[in-house]
Amino acid sequence: MGEHADLLKRHQAVMPDWISLLYDQPIELVSGEGRRVTDGEGRTYLDFFAGILTNMLGYGVPEVREAIEAQLDTGVVHTSTLYLIRQQVELAERIAELSGIPDAKVFFANSGTEANEAALLLATQYRRSNQILALRNSYHGRSYAAMGITGNRGWSASSLTPVNVSYVHSGYRFRSPFRDLPDDAYTAACVEDLREVIATTTAGDVACMIAEPIQGVGGFATPPDGFFGAMKEVLDEYGILFVSDEVQTGWGRTGEHFWGIQAHGFVPAAMTFAKGLGNGIAIGGVVARGELMDTVRVNSISTFGGNPVATRAALAVLDYVRDHDLQANAREVGARLFAGLRALQEKHPVIGEVRGKGLMAGVELVEPDGRTPSTSTAARVLEGTRERGLLLGKGGLYGNVLRIAPPVTISSGEVDEGLRALADTFAAL
Ligand SMILES: Cc1ncc(COP(=O)(O)O)c(C=O)c1O
Repeated sequence: MGEHADLLKRHQAVMPDWISLLYDQPIELVSGEGRRVTDGEGRTYLDFFAGILTNMLGYGVPEVREAIEAQLDTGVVHTSTLYLIRQQVELAERIAELSGIPDAKVFFANSGTEANEAALLLATQYRRSNQILALRNSYHGRSYAAMGITGNRGWSASSLTPVNVSYVHSGYRFRSPFRDLPDDAYTAACVEDLREVIATTTAGDVACMIAEPIQGVGGFATPPDGFFGAMKEVLDEYGILFVSDEVQTGWGRTGEHFWGIQAHGFVPAAMTFAKGLGNGIAIGGVVARGELMDTVRVNSISTFGGNPVATRAALAVLDYVRDHDLQANAREVGARLFAGLRALQEKHPVIGEVRGKGLMAGVELVEPDGRTPSTSTAARVLEGTRERGLLLGKGGLYGNVLRIAPPVTISSGEVDEGLRALADTFAAL
C-alpha cells in the first residue's frame, strides 16, 4: 500500500465522514516552496487553490517564517488578552486604517466563522434585533449562527440557529431567474426583491445584511459592480447595517480593490476577515465602527484570538502585501488568467461561465444544454489537472464550479503553465 492509501485508511477510521477530501486518491502535501507543493509520494504540483485561498503569499516565505521565529525566540507563544500585546495593537491599528471605516476598532478571533459570529453579535446587540438578511448561495462558516446565514443546503448541517434569517438574491446570476437582464436591470430586480423581502418576511427592524462581495464556496459568483451599493440604499431607509464578509475577497485578491466591497461604492459598518491574513497561521477578526464594536457591555474574550505569534505573522504578511504591491499583481496576472480561461471557454461548450475578479476565477461546467450543472465533469477536470501537476478547487451549489485562486504572488509564467494544464485536460475530456 502506498503512503497516501495507508494514510487515507487511517484518516477514514478516525476522522469524521463529513470532512470531504479532494480526488479519487486523496493526497498529503508535505512541503512547499513559492507556489509549488510536493505530496507524500514525491509529486510536485503548481497550487491554484492555496489551501482554500489561505496561503496567500505561497509557501516557504522567509519574511513570515522569520517573524514567527522571532516571536518563538522570546519564549512567549501565548499570554492571553489579559495582558497588552504590542503586535496585536499594531495589527489592529493597521487593519483599522486599511478598512477605511471611521473610528474603527478590531476584534481578533481564530477563524472566519468566529469572525462572523462576532460581527453578528455586534449587529444584533447594537440594533437590539435578531433579524438578519443573508444572501442565497452564501457561505459564512460552521457555527450555528454562521450556518444560519449560510444559504447553501450542502453546507447547512443544521437548521438550528440563534438568528432569524431572510435570504435575498445574490450575484449568482447564472442560475438566477433574472439572468437574462443586463447589469443595471439585474441589480434593480434584486433590489426590488430585497424591498419585498424586508416588507414581507421581517419585522422591519433588521440588524444587518451580511454578504460576501464575491461568493467563495458558492463558486465565485460575482454581482455587477455597484450591486451592494444599490441594496444599501434600501437598507439605509431602515437603519440596517451592512457587514461585508471579506474572508475570501480581502487583502487585494480581487486586483482592482483592497477589499471586495469597494467595488460597490461604500464603506460598510463592519468587515470580517480570516484566511489569507496569517498565510496559514490561524487568525481572523472583525473591524467595525467604534460605537458598533463597543456596543457589547459585558466581558467577552477569545483566548487564542490575536495571540502574539499569529499577530506577528499577520503583520509580516501585510508588510509583504504592501511591499510587493500584490494587489497590482492580482490585477495584472489575474487579467492574463481570465484571458486564458475565456479563450478556453470559446473552445469548450462544457464551460458555461467564467467569472470572478483578479486572482479569484470561477469556471462553471455544464451539460450540452448549456445550463444543467455538470458535477461529474468538474470531478474529471480536477483529476485530469492533478495528473498534469496542477491543484484546483471546486465549489458551487452543485459542485460543478472550478475554483482557481492561486497565491497572489503568482507569476505570469506560472499562470501560463496552469492554463496549459487546464487546456490539455479539457482537450482530453
Ligand atoms: C466567505 C467565508 N466566510 C467564512 C468562512 C469560514 O471561515 P473558517 O473556515 O475559517 O471558519 C469561510 C470559509 O471558507 C468563507 O469562505
